[in-house]
Amino acid sequence: MIRSVVRGFGAALPKQVVTNLDLESKVDTSDEWIVQRTGIRQRYIAGEGETTASLGEAAGRAALENAGLTSADLDLIIVATSTPDNTFPATAVNIQNRLGMHHGAAFDVQAVCSGFIFGVTTADAYIRGGLAKRVLVIGAETFSRILDWTDRTTCVLFGDGAGAIILEAQEGTGANSDRGVLTTQLRSDGAHKEKLYVDGGPSTTGTVGHLRMEGREVFKHAVGMITDVIEAAFTATGTTADDLDWLVPHQANRRIIDGSAKKLGIPLEKVVVTVDLHGNTSAASIPLALNTAAADGRIKRGDLVLLEAMGGGFTWGSVLLRW
Ligand code: UT7
Repeated sequence: MIRSVVRGFGAALPKQVVTNLDLESKVDTSDEWIVQRTGIRQRYIAGEGETTASLGEAAGRAALENAGLTSADLDLIIVATSTPDNTFPATAVNIQNRLGMHHGAAFDVQAVCSGFIFGVTTADAYIRGGLAKRVLVIGAETFSRILDWTDRTTCVLFGDGAGAIILEAQEGTGANSDRGVLTTQLRSDGAHKEKLYVDGGPSTTGTVGHLRMEGREVFKHAVGMITDVIEAAFTATGTTADDLDWLVPHQANRRIIDGSAKKLGIPLEKVVVTVDLHGNTSAASIPLALNTAAADGRIKRGDLVLLEAMGGGFTWGSVLLRW
C-alpha cells in the first residue's frame, strides 16, 4: 500500500523576540503569571515585511532544502492558516508563486490550531488516493495581527511563525512498522464557536476582527478532546502509549500538554515542548515543534511520533506517523 512518508522538514520565525517582560509594559500582566499559567517565556512577533506568506515561504524553502528537492518536484501545496495575507487568493497560491512553482495546485485549509493536523490528513488522502506524489504541507500564522493588544487575557498567549513538512508517496507493507502516516483522526463541533473565535470577517463586519477567547472554557474541553483523538489513533492502529517514541502536541499551554500526557500515561521525557519559546502559534505550532525536535536529533528516522491539536471551532485531531 502507498504511505505518505516525511521526506523533509523546515521552519521559519520572525526576527523579533518579545519576552514576557516586554509585555509587562504593554498590559497589566507579569512574567510570573504567564509562566505559571501557560509555560510561555517568549514569542516571536512579525515585523514590517514579515507576513504569513513570507514565513510560510521560508519554511517551505527550508523543507525543500532538507529533502534535497526543488518546487519542481512537488504536486501540491497545502497551507494551514487562519491569518492569510489576503482574504483571497489563498496563501498557498501566493507561496506557490514565491517558490517559482506554476504547475500542480495549491490551497489553504482553515482549522485554526488544528490546521496542521487537517492539512496533513488532506495531504495523506491525496497521496493514498494516487492524486499526488509529493505534497508540501505548511502551517503558517501571524496571530499577532488579529490580537487585541489591550486584552491581557489573550495577547500574551500567541506568537507568529511557520513550519513545514514534505510528504512523499512510498510503497509500504500495511504494517505499523512502515514509515509514514499510519492513521489520522479529525473531529469538529461548531457548538463551541463562541468560546474561541475572531469577531470579524468579510461577510459579517467587513473587517478582519480580533481574536476572542474564553480561556477557562477552552481549557475545560481541551484535555478530554485531545485524549479522545489520541485514543482513537491507538485503537485504529492497535498501538499503545508504550509504543510511542515522541508526542508532539499543539503548543497552547504547558498545563494542557502535561495534563494530556499524564492522562494517557505518556512520560514527559517523550513529549516535545516548545511553548516556552514560541508561545501559541496556532497551525504553525506542531510543525515548529517537529522541526525543533528533528533538527536537534531527538526525532530520528523510524521513530513513532504522535501529533495532536485542539482549537477554535472547536476542531481537534491527531496524526500517528513513523518518521
Ligand atoms: O490554541 C487553541 C486552544 N487554546 C487553548 O488551549 C487555551 C486554553 N486556555 C488556557 O490556556 C488558560 O485558560 C489561560 C492561560 C488562557 C488562562 O489561564 P487560567 O488559569 O484559566 O486563568 P483564568 O482565565 O481563570 O484567569 C485567572 C485570573 C483572572 O483574574 P480573577 O478573575 O481570578 O481575578 C484573570 O483576570 O488571571 C487573570 N488574568 C491575568 N493576570 C495577569 C488573565 N490574564 C492575565 C494576564 N496577566 N495576562
